Amino acid sequence: MRRPVAAVVGTGRGVPETVMTNHDFAAIGIETSHDWIVERSGIHERRIAKNGVTTCSMAAEAGRKAMARADVHPGQLDTIILSTATPDRLLPSTAVDVQAELGADRAAAFDIGAACSGWLYGMTVAEGMIMSGSAETILVVGSEKMSAIVDWKDRATCVLFGDGAGAAVLQRAKTGKGILSTFLRSDGKLAELLYRPGGGATNQFSQSVLDDRSHYVRMAGREVFKHAVRSMSEAATRALDAARLTGDDIDLLIPHQANIRIIEATAKHSSIPMEKVYVNVDRFGNTSSASIPIAIDEALEKGLIREGTTVLLVAFGAGFTWASMIIRF
Ligand code: ACO
Repeated sequence: MRRPVAAVVGTGRGVPETVMTNHDFAAIGIETSHDWIVERSGIHERRIAKNGVTTCSMAAEAGRKAMARADVHPGQLDTIILSTATPDRLLPSTAVDVQAELGADRAAAFDIGAACSGWLYGMTVAEGMIMSGSAETILVVGSEKMSAIVDWKDRATCVLFGDGAGAAVLQRAKTGKGILSTFLRSDGKLAELLYRPGGGATNQFSQSVLDDRSHYVRMAGREVFKHAVRSMSEAATRALDAARLTGDDIDLLIPHQANIRIIEATAKHSSIPMEKVYVNVDRFGNTSSASIPIAIDEALEKGLIREGTTVLLVAFGAGFTWASMIIRF
């Protein structure tokens, strides 16, 4: 097992106050039911960003809390990496808005786009920067306002997603604790199974984009489901092999919170019992790249992650992208 180079020294989350339950869909004319949503996805409710809550404001809240826990002040940050599929605007990055909001004047800030796997991609980039000596203190945030990009007329997608942000501060590991292994992979041939066809630099915003609602998320649900199970299982195995560990060595599995059935299948493949799996998809829905850092922060708060706990993180998302990481806290 390689010696950890980077360690998580603080985490935080910023989730909107507004709760939308499965029963609230009727009021906006969506033909669905609590039972259908729970049976297919395990989701009971999700948070929705309203009243001026933005991708930046959720990220800044999560970042501030993570810095407070890490006892790091904004001037110490030399890098801010923000993973998001829902930037507040297309240019410049949302990371620079977060930098300004935090007053992190010494930092370089940039966005990273790897959809639901984005936070693990960001963590892996951060680890590499610390390893190379080009950075000492990095804030890695996943922040998503999915409610802004789902089609609220498409019942097959709008019931699945929610808003929120999670963050971690990374510094050089001083002890044997920290990131033990990472794995990243993608397959762009499958991009059109989960994407937003309109509104980019090709197929630019126009009346026809608005009319056919192609600026919203389109998803081939069944195909995504199949690939998610296969790829998250592969990612879990790769991270375990790279750290020379088995499922028995893992104290807690924190998978991307997309769907309880995908989570159960990933746990089964990795021979990790559900008692060792952190689940909050019932309360937050799929918050894309924010889901893993939100879950880590909750698990730390609940004492499920303590000194010495070994945690396996596994994600899958649009691209497709998939990723995993093992951290000893
Ligand atoms: N309420 C009630 N009925 C619905 C709803 C809804 N919200 N949405 C779809 N239906 C209907 C469909 O219209 C269809 O009806 P029909 O048979 O009369 O045509 C029926 O339910 C079955 O639809 P399917 O799409 O085949 O349902 P499926 O069992 O595949 O479940 C789901 C759909 C939940 C989207 C599932 O495919 C899934 O979970 N896929 C993974 C998607 C995912 O997690 N994406 C997140 C992004 S990637 C990631 O983060 C991992």
